[in-house]
Amino acid sequence: MIDQADSTSGFGHGKVILLGEHAVVFGQPAVAAGIRTGVRAHASPGSGAVSAPAWGLDAQVGDDSLPGQAIGHLVERLHTDVSSLDFWLEAEVPARAGLGSSAAMAVAIARAVAARTGASDTDVLAAAAAAEAVFHRTPSGIDAAAATRGRLGRFDRRDGWQDLPLKSPFELCIGLSGQSHDTGALVAGVADLCKGTPVARRLVEAMGDLARASMEALAEGDVSALARMFNMAHGLLSGLGVSTPTLDDLVHTARTAGALGAKLTGAGGGGAVIAIAAEHADEVLRRWRAKGYYGFTTTIGHD
Ligand code: MEV
Repeated sequence: MIDQADSTSGFGHGKVILLGEHAVVFGQPAVAAGIRTGVRAHASPGSGAVSAPAWGLDAQVGDDSLPGQAIGHLVERLHTDVSSLDFWLEAEVPARAGLGSSAAMAVAIARAVAARTGASDTDVLAAAAAAEAVFHRTPSGIDAAAATRGRLGRFDRRDGWQDLPLKSPFELCIGLSGQSHDTGALVAGVADLCKGTPVARRLVEAMGDLARASMEALAEGDVSALARMFNMAHGLLSGLGVSTPTLDDLVHTARTAGALGAKLTGAGGGGAVIAIAAEHADEVLRRWRAKGYYGFTTTIGHD
């Protein structure tokens, strides 16, 4: 529990990648959005305990666990004594589900520390990136950027995050496979595929082309075109070996229920799918539920 009197807090957004996951690791652009749900961290004087009841997480800053190591790097990066604070996390996003939970946690903790030390947003992002490197080995940085910014944007490794114009907000259905995944291993798998089968690089480039085209569709409010791009992207991601029978089932169930487009989002290998379903959103959620999948909707373009 936290010492309310001397506690500071910070929030990190969960995220969805609309187009360009995996390709972004190879320098292509991607389009992502921070979502309303995320992680709130409370920091109070203590001895380095980290607790996230929703994730069943109990760790110690700097211990051998992945979160312990990641938060240790993060706190050191912010020049704070690693064992001087306790962190208590309210997590609304599921862990390891493709919705950027680790980046949301890292940004929330970095902001809770920054609220005590006055560290800048740039320091927060750099500290979150250091934590993400522990979790995912060679992340592009897109998850930490979306978790910090909390809105729609374009990301590439050279120029980082830029907010994107959106003509009108739209609703996304998010369906959870219930299978956790290892982002670092999936990223390494795509790199191996590209090395062993160079034509796979063309799929990566096509993912980048779809991300570029989606920016125009978003600026023009052409959600149907965006949905068609989702369908193409799911095919490309399957070709790169990161879909699973469960993700394919979620995608096909959404399309059968009337969704205009659906794809896996994030690293794949489990995790989540997103669908654009307009007036069929309730039907998509109902059919997912009937098959035992949890789904919810979120608005892209919220204030
Ligand atoms: C994970 O949310 C997105 C990936 O592109 C990995 C990354 O960009 O770090 C799969």
